[in-house]
Amino acid sequence: MAKASKGDLSTYRKKRTNSSNRAAAKAGNKLQETLHELAFQKFALDQAAIVAVTDLDGKITYANSKFCEVSGYSQNELSGKNHRIINSSYHPPDFFAEMWNTISSGKVWRGEIRNKTKDGTLYWTDSTIVPLLDDHGKPIKYLSIRFDISDRKKFEETLRLQERAIASSHNGIVITDCRLPNNEVVYVNSAFEKITGYISSEVIGKNCRFLQGTDVFQPEKDILRNAINKGESCSVVIRNYRKDGSLFWNELNISPIFDEMGRATHFIGIQTDITARKEAEKDLKRQMSLTVLLNRITDEIRQSLDIESIFQTAAHQIQLAFRASRCLIYKLDYEDQNSVLEPQISLMSEQLADKIFSVKDFELPLLNSAFGKRVSNQDQAISITNVYAEEDLGDLGELFYRMQLRSLLAIRTSSHGLTNGLILLHHCNSFHELNLIILFIQMWI
Ligand SMILES: Cc1cc2nc3c(=O)[nH]c(=O)nc-3n(C[C@H](O)[C@H](O)[C@H](O)COP(=O)(O)O)c2cc1C
Repeated sequence: MAKASKGDLSTYRKKRTNSSNRAAAKAGNKLQETLHELAFQKFALDQAAIVAVTDLDGKITYANSKFCEVSGYSQNELSGKNHRIINSSYHPPDFFAEMWNTISSGKVWRGEIRNKTKDGTLYWTDSTIVPLLDDHGKPIKYLSIRFDISDRKKFEETLRLQERAIASSHNGIVITDCRLPNNEVVYVNSAFEKITGYISSEVIGKNCRFLQGTDVFQPEKDILRNAINKGESCSVVIRNYRKDGSLFWNELNISPIFDEMGRATHFIGIQTDITARKEAEKDLKRQMSLTVLLNRITDEIRQSLDIESIFQTAAHQIQLAFRASRCLIYKLDYEDQNSVLEPQISLMSEQLADKIFSVKDFELPLLNSAFGKRVSNQDQAISITNVYAEEDLGDLGELFYRMQLRSLLAIRTSSHGLTNGLILLHHCNSFHELNLIILFIQMWI
């Protein structure tokens, strides 16, 4: 083995010293770099997050400036205090018990906590609590990092409120996606289900036009189609049909919903079932035309000279007003005032529509049938849409057939509660619903 000379050794030592100095300098630099990096990360974290360190009892030993800024407390006010200082009494005790269980067993806990600032304002944080562990895995202290999510929570709350408002509205509400080819339904509320009888799952994915059933020649459809094509709002009243096939009048308002770029992505439709209003309007119209009819009859009667033309006028006007095939007016005469005997019944007038034959010579069991008794005992008109389907009239089927009768309306006339006449309206060409609320006719006959 070659022996090193004295010069070699000192060169070697110098070299070694130089190299260890360089290593130390390098390590020092690395440490500096790491510390710098850590300081930077802490600075960045402090900008965004509420950071606190607590001891094992939950006492705050460090609070960063964001914590002070959000909570409204100074470092001094927070230092040494329990986190209870910012508790808003919102969460049940179980919530925090579970949190303590998790972190004291060395695990990380995450959750959303509602807290309270010094001046009582509530704020929400998304919180992560990390236990710092000793060599045996036991927590020494806890580091909490929180983000203020109050704005998000407020937004979510507003959304939930809007959802609840839409869901509980008495108007039917439909939302469609107009980016899809068929502008299909993506949402309906429970009032829609109640009005239409369809449940949400039967409707989602369809275009609302299915509510029109086979009633497709309605001008309102063009108004709706044009508004949708132009991305505009519109209002219509349209005939729609429930799941059970019954008609309802739908007062419908549709409006586009735009995205941030101003493009219509959805439409919202608000439905009001105005069937009852429509019915009331129809009743009112009927009442008005009745009043007009009565006035006309009264006028003509005033101008008539004899009783025969009075009956004829009345029968003619009634037959015209109801577009009936026949109008028959009978008069009842009682033998005595107390009317113990059956009254004498005589046909006073028969008015016929074009091509309808007379039934003058038919013997009608007017008062000798259950139906006749029913008519002569009440002021309200009795309307029968299909005379062959009416139980009361079972034994008169053949007679009706001979008269070519299909629908019938019958009403008595009376004076001081005593029946003094009968009016019959016949429909022979088709089945008619003769819905008539009759006030009717105190004795003008
Ligand atoms: C949001 C929204 C709701 C609608 N709700 C109804 C409705 O309740 N009843 C109805 O008959 N039509 C409704 N429509 C209209 C039909 O979907 C359809 O646009 C209309 O029948 C005209 O188009 P069409 O000719 O293609 O059928 C709604 C449309 C939209 C966009």
